Formats: sequence, C-alpha cells, structure tokens
Amino acid sequence: MVSIDPKAVPNHVACVMDGNGRWAEQRGLARIEGHKMGEHSLIETIEGALELGVKWLTVYAFSTENWKRPPDEVKFLIGFNEDILQRRQQELHEMGVQIRFVGRTDWRVPKRLTKRMNEARELTKNNRRLIFTIAFNYGGRAEVVDAVKSLMKAGVSPDKVNEKLIARHLYDPKMPEVDLMVRTSGEFRTSNFLLWHLAYSEMVFTDTLWPDFNRTHLAEAVAEYQSRSRRYGGVTA
Ligand code: IPE
Ligand code: IPE
Ligand code: MG
Repeated sequence: MVSIDPKAVPNHVACVMDGNGRWAEQRGLARIEGHKMGEHSLIETIEGALELGVKWLTVYAFSTENWKRPPDEVKFLIGFNEDILQRRQQELHEMGVQIRFVGRTDWRVPKRLTKRMNEARELTKNNRRLIFTIAFNYGGRAEVVDAVKSLMKAGVSPDKVNEKLIARHLYDPKMPEVDLMVRTSGEFRTSNFLLWHLAYSEMVFTDTLWPDFNRTHLAEAVAEYQSRSRRYGGVTA
C-alpha cells in the first residue's frame, strides 16, 4: 500500500505514455504489440486517477513529431486510437469520465478519427468525476503557434496580451496547469508535451515501460509528488 494524503492529491496529472516499442522489442514482438498492451495501462491509470480523486488526467497519445515514424506504425496508431474510443467510450461514460481532446486537427488526421473524437466528446460532455484529455497530433510549440494565430485573428491589441489571455487561446482554455507530469520508460524529457501547462509542474520519471504501468505506479508517483516542496519561485514559509 502506498500512503497518500487525500487532501494533497494533484488536481491535474499528465502522462507521457512511453516505452511501448521497447516493451515489445524486449519480447521479440513487433512494436505495435507494445501499443496494444498499453491500452490496459491506460485504463489502469484512469481507474487509479478516479480512486485517488484526481480531477484532470491528460495523456500524450500522438505527438506532432510522431508522423516521422514508419507509415505502418502511424497507420496503426491512428486506427488504434479510433478503436479505443469506440470500444471504451461507453465504459468511460458510465464511470463518470468526460473525454476531451487537444491537438491540431489538420489534414493528416483522418475524418473517421475526428468523427469518433466528436462522438466521445459529445457522449461524455456532462460528466464531472474526471476530465480525461487525450493529446492527439499534439505539440506544445504547435499549440503556441496556433494560440498566436488565434490572438492575431481576433485582432487583439499587443498592449492587451497577457498570460491569462494567451491561456484563453490555447486548445482547451479550461485546462488547468499540470501539477504532476509522469513519464515512463526512463526518458528524462517532455518531448513537446503541454509546454504552457508544464511550466511549474512536478515531474516524476520512472523506468517502468508504459505497458507495465498500473494504478500502483500512479499512486507511487503521487506519493513522490507529495514529498516535493513547491515554491513557485518563492521561499518556503
Ligand atoms: C509510446 O511508446 C507510444 C507513442 C509514442 C505513441 P513508443 O512507441 O515511443 O515506445 P519506445 O519509446 O519506442 O519504446
Ligand atoms: C512522446 O514519446 C510522445 C508520446 C508518448 C505520444 P516519443 O517516444 O515520441 O518521444 P521521444 O521521441 O522519445 O522524444
Ligand atoms: Mg518513445
């Protein structure tokens, strides 16, 4: 059992679900087998977040850089995300999970996937237990670029630009800052995830590969988060 203070649970947890390929390679399997196993970890993480009382959970499913992967893997990941949404939306809905998305909806994202995203968003829009956001075709720099475009199109005068206003032009203006970012697979980087929202988040890196990640690992990351002293540039009282 991991000991957690229920009064100091992070409001927003973000996960970089990494290490699927290596998990498969270690077993002599094709990379996509690792992605398939990652679905179970995703459900574990959602259930773990619900148990802990986390309010916002955001996961990195596909980055703007992931288009560089071999076409077969890209194709698989797109189809797989579509399948997961179709297979799991009802179950997540019944669990009180609201499903949202951040990322660019450019020509590379197939219409069928956009349709599934809209369905899932629509079905779950009134749920409040957990706001679960999938970052798909997401890049932190792309988000900043898109926010600047949106500000300019709105004709905002330069004198009016401040942090609050920029935040209002991001993909999801309601998304709060990330309190805890977890990255699996032993890589120590953010890989262009949630640039704006990660500014003051606590980061926990674990060697566990994503397909092996479960609710206990999530609880351990939250315990680690609770041991940190967040100063936001100030001094501890
Ligand atoms: C993360 O696992 C899944 C996606 C990026 C979609 P990887 O596929 O990056 O796995 P590794 O890092 O190659 O092991
Ligand atoms: C980050 O993982 C993107 C997702 C988990 C979707 P990557 O595996 O793509 O990142 P790098 O290449 O190690 O930086
Ligand atoms: Mg990776």
